Amino acid sequence: MIHDLLMTFYVTTPIYYANSLPHLGHLYTMIVADTIARHKRQQGIETFFLTGTDEHGINIERAAERAGRTPKEQADYVVSYFKKMTAKFRLDTDHGGYDIFMRTSEPFHYQGVTELWRRAAKAKTPKGNEAIYKGHYEGWFCAPCAAYKTEDEYAKPAKEGEPPTCLIHETPLDRVAEESYFFRLSDYAEALLALYESRPDFVQPESRNNEVTAFVRGGLQDLSVSRLKTSVSWGVPVPDDPDHTMYVWFDALTNYITAIGFGNEERDRAVGFEKFWPALHLVGKDILRFHAVYWPAFLMAAGVEQPRAIVAHGMWLDPNGRKMSKTLGNTVELDVLSRHFPIDAIRYFCLREMVFGQDGRFGYEALIDRTNSDLASGLGNLSSRTLTMISRYAEGRVPSGVISEDKLLLAKRTGVDTDETTISGFIEHARDQFLQHLEAFAFSKALETAWSVVARVDKMISDAKPWDLAKDENQKQTLSAVLYRAAETLRWLCVLLYPVMPTATLEIWTQLGLRNSAGSLAESDPAKLKWGELAEGTAIGEVKPLFPRIDKTKTMAEINTDSAVQRPTSNVQRPAAAGSAEREQGSGTHTTEADAVLVSTGSVSDGVPGEATAQPEGLIDITDFTKVELRVGEVLTAQRIPKADKLLLLTVDIGEEKPRQILAGIAQYYDPEQLVGRKIAVVANLKPRKLRGHESQGMLLAASVGEEGKPVIATFTEDVPNGARLK
Ligand code: MSP
Repeated sequence: MIHDLLMTFYVTTPIYYANSLPHLGHLYTMIVADTIARHKRQQGIETFFLTGTDEHGINIERAAERAGRTPKEQADYVVSYFKKMTAKFRLDTDHGGYDIFMRTSEPFHYQGVTELWRRAAKAKTPKGNEAIYKGHYEGWFCAPCAAYKTEDEYAKPAKEGEPPTCLIHETPLDRVAEESYFFRLSDYAEALLALYESRPDFVQPESRNNEVTAFVRGGLQDLSVSRLKTSVSWGVPVPDDPDHTMYVWFDALTNYITAIGFGNEERDRAVGFEKFWPALHLVGKDILRFHAVYWPAFLMAAGVEQPRAIVAHGMWLDPNGRKMSKTLGNTVELDVLSRHFPIDAIRYFCLREMVFGQDGRFGYEALIDRTNSDLASGLGNLSSRTLTMISRYAEGRVPSGVISEDKLLLAKRTGVDTDETTISGFIEHARDQFLQHLEAFAFSKALETAWSVVARVDKMISDAKPWDLAKDENQKQTLSAVLYRAAETLRWLCVLLYPVMPTATLEIWTQLGLRNSAGSLAESDPAKLKWGELAEGTAIGEVKPLFPRIDKTKTMAEINTDSAVQRPTSNVQRPAAAGSAEREQGSGTHTTEADAVLVSTGSVSDGVPGEATAQPEGLIDITDFTKVELRVGEVLTAQRIPKADKLLLLTVDIGEEKPRQILAGIAQYYDPEQLVGRKIAVVANLKPRKLRGHESQGMLLAASVGEEGKPVIATFTEDVPNGARLK
């Protein structure tokens, strides 16, 4: 796929929902896209790499409401975290990563998506019907999926009268019945099947292609593509019918073309729709249907060229084999990851460990093991031993690789292969295989191939024993040849591995002395590598260790502590299944949806996300405030406690099943009788604690007046119901 004659290339990740913080699943697609984009750029192809956020819909509205924000504020918040995270992982524009962080709340997107809708609304289907029509829809809608669910996609309720639950999210579905615009998808089945047949690479890998084909063969139903504004107001209005907002997938998928200028001249001039479209879409297999069925049908209706390909990857599972998801609360946190591992080790692990297209399990222990074996002992060690020997035995300059005729016999006696083409041939072959795998998205195989080169050259060094050769003046050329071959291999590995590990390879490149003498690594085409082009005499740079060994026990203990610190102490509903078992295995979980935003803020110590890090001292963010659950309570009973002259024991109704027992240090200022029947403000999510043998299950609010701190209880001058939230 990747290698072709076109001089531009466009790769996209999905745009991520702006209702929660990114996790490993999101990072993974970005790493894959970034690797592909860097590889393309190395080939001299002008590349455009898109990632971004999907900001509309009921989910974002709900998350915003929970966090006490407007939907736009919610999106801004998540986007600012995403951007900090992508910078931290060097995936942003400043580090040679994405070209656009697309946001569906951008005005140019509104304009473009409106244009696509208008075109589709004017179009006739292949069967001569109107592509978009108005009707009524009634069905079970999953807000987290942002999709209606058919019978095979939900679990029937345990009790009659209750809603069914989504099979993916295990959350109750909403019954939605309302007027809606429909896209006549049912008329597109033949056209879609013809598309898949004529372009076998359109959906990849092949197994996914078969899956999609089978789905379409099974028959397609028309798709509801709007919601009433009264149900979902945060979205793009349907053109000429502002009572409706567009279905979030119609809006979201269209981002791929609006980002490069579809429907907006200014944007088109800045990027170029004609120049970059069609794109290669990278998606998780869970959202394949939207990309491989709905999106092509929308494009057919609007008369826009089809994407270049839709390539689906598998899911990261937790160590117990369950899909990582925000809703299940078992995701791997990016700030925990970046705090304990070099970014390139994470990139390497993701691409090496997951067989692309299949699911893979993520465990910190496996990440540590791979980092230590493949990077610290493998590539890192090869680099440092080669460079150290060049500095020690060749005065810090790349020596000549040539063994003169008269020294060949001597060299042979040491067991060194005097025919340089044996090793260069091996490496050239490995390069070709590596590229083939890379272009087929077989990252794991590509890396396996590259590591066969590491092993081969390591063996060459160990067999040749340069430390012994160095003791014999007659073997100077043999020693030089061995060192040259190792250094030249390192140069090749830098070029091959740059898309996967841009930072580490640049470091080796610099240590090899190539930063100034050769072309830029980012622009070195691996297909054009020629053995022997590493110039003799190149002065190597300072030799520094690349991947220090990770102490497994210590790091696992730190990760477990980190993950525990980031876990919420209250107020967050966590499914029972996502509990302590994973914590013991150090899965670094975090909380759900908008709550994740809240919990992470205060706990980030190294500046990745958290608004907290950017706050002026002494100020808190609204999310900090919303951590405190304040409720209206009514004092039902009040009494003194024997031998505790400062405390009153109250029972307070805060709208729960049972009244709370609260101890308050106000006995010297209030008589119990004064308090009964009073409405007060209560901190409802304080951890319970024992005072004088009595449990206190909350705290009441009072002003502290004068030098002695006389308490004056906060109260309400208007009627308020018990349990009402103060915010
Ligand atoms: N907003 C939609 C996409 C719209 S694209 C026009 C969406 N967003 S998402 O945030 O829920 O997911 C984005 C991507 O993250 C999907 O490709 C999904 O497959 C991927 N992942 C989410 N969890 C994942 C794993 N545990 N493992 C791998 N990828 C996963 O869907």
